[in-house]
Amino acid sequence: MTEDRIVLGIESTCDETAAAVVRGGYEVLGEWCASQIDLHARFGGVVPEIACRAHTEIITRGIDHALREADTDFRTLDAIAVSHRPGLAGSILVGLSAAKALAWTWGLPLLAVDHVEAHAYSAHLEHRVEHPYLALVASGGHTSLYLAHEAGKYEPIGQTLDDAAGEAFDKAARLLGLPYPGGPAIEEAALQGDPKAVDFPRPMLHSPSLDFSFSGLKTSLLYRKKGQDANSPDLPSLPVADFAASFQEAIVDVLVAKSLRAAQEHDLSRIAVCGGVACNRRLREVLSLRCQEKGFSCFFPQPSLCTDNAVMIAGLGHTQLLRGQRASLELEIG
Ligand code: KG4
Ligand code: ZN
Repeated sequence: MTEDRIVLGIESTCDETAAAVVRGGYEVLGEWCASQIDLHARFGGVVPEIACRAHTEIITRGIDHALREADTDFRTLDAIAVSHRPGLAGSILVGLSAAKALAWTWGLPLLAVDHVEAHAYSAHLEHRVEHPYLALVASGGHTSLYLAHEAGKYEPIGQTLDDAAGEAFDKAARLLGLPYPGGPAIEEAALQGDPKAVDFPRPMLHSPSLDFSFSGLKTSLLYRKKGQDANSPDLPSLPVADFAASFQEAIVDVLVAKSLRAAQEHDLSRIAVCGGVACNRRLREVLSLRCQEKGFSCFFPQPSLCTDNAVMIAGLGHTQLLRGQRASLELEIG
């Protein structure tokens, strides 16, 4: 089988509906992505029922759009890749049903892609990062470290034991009265704040494990903020910007330290950061600096490939196609 097969990728695991036509695992021929942020913003987080309905309303138009942008139709496709785990069950079901129906109707192979592994692939997608590399996937649902042995072969070596980094940003933003999604809002507010104003804990920073934990950090913010709101005499009143900057700094410190340690322990000198949190400019700045000091290279996909997208689904699906992996039309949510 030649390496330039064309794959239609479909993504709907959370609050982005996306479709992409990708050739050879890298070359984007057509792409479409609709975010539901506006629908969920007033609830301060993703509402599963609303997400599921919004995917249903738009997914066929999105697939059609990606195919038209690629100036092609189903006859040139070699396979359909869909993210079937992990995520919101109702949301996944929409993309999965569409992918199965189209694979059956068009007589194409179906490929089952793990959404978090697809994030890990996204670094390789844009920068062709040489394997092996360490992949940190930090998003709203996951904070995981992988050894990326080769495209499509990812070994998990660490993960969050409770909240994901993006989830911590989202919850902290809500506590601070900032909009959803919290990551970009906190990053923006932090620009005017002092990162040393509040000495937030750095959870599990010194633990020998490569796992993460962010729920205590959020609780720490909650109590510090409550104390201030109750005019506690021991707590100086701080602006939101100081809380945002200090909170962001704590998360960045933990993500950077664990990634460097994981790379060192596994003899890797390349680190790729993927997932929505990888958009964070402070994280990019600190990790780049620390990698430079150690003689490591670090890679960040462009923001549209950090957040959820279907290009990474089609890309990782392509590696499965070349390996002869196929999913059955009975494929279920993973
Ligand atoms: O990868 P993604 O689009 O969806 C999931 O798979 O979860 O990530 C969304 C998450 C949200 O929690 C959002 O707050 C966070 O990524 N995020 C950021 C930034 N942009 C998005 N976190 C920190 N700084 C950012 N600039
Ligand atoms: Zn994601």
